[in-house]
Amino acid sequence: MKLVIAAIKPFKLEEVREALTRAGVRGMMVTEIKGFGAQSGHTEIYRGAEYAVNFVPKVKLEMVVNSDISDQVVEIIQNTARTDKIGDGKIFVLDVEQAVRVRTGEIGNDAL
Ligand SMILES: Nc1ncnc2c1ncn2[C@@H]1O[C@H](COP(=O)(O)OP(=O)(O)OP(=O)(O)O)[C@@H](O)[C@H]1O
Ligand SMILES: [Mg+2]
Repeated sequence: MKLVIAAIKPFKLEEVREALTRAGVRGMMVTEIKGFGAQSGHTEIYRGAEYAVNFVPKVKLEMVVNSDISDQVVEIIQNTARTDKIGDGKIFVLDVEQAVRVRTGEIGNDAL
């Protein structure tokens, strides 16, 4: 299993979620965050307003997926979240040791 963590532009959330659901992703965590990337301290356009600040609103997605589809998940996020402007986001992929569905006790991929 892999944990895919993505920071994306908030207005892209629904489109990305829909595309991932179509690809078989059955669960995810979503958090509103603030962050910065390579342009730290520089101006970034957010919903038409200029924020000359260090932290810019983003949405963080976290999803544990079968390793078989993790490359596809990353590709979908990249293709869907992309606007070709700075601040489009970043994606990280980590190995996951175990998953447990609390209700049934299923483990591993069965628990996803
Ligand atoms: N190295 C990092 N570690 C953790 N989170 C990061 C890192 N880089 C970026 N992020 C997160 O991703 C968000 C989006 O980053 P961003 O897209 O601006 O990256 P970038 O490298 O500056 O790329 P771009 O040049 O396209 O803007 C940041 O607000 C932050 O939440
Ligand atoms: Mg940036």
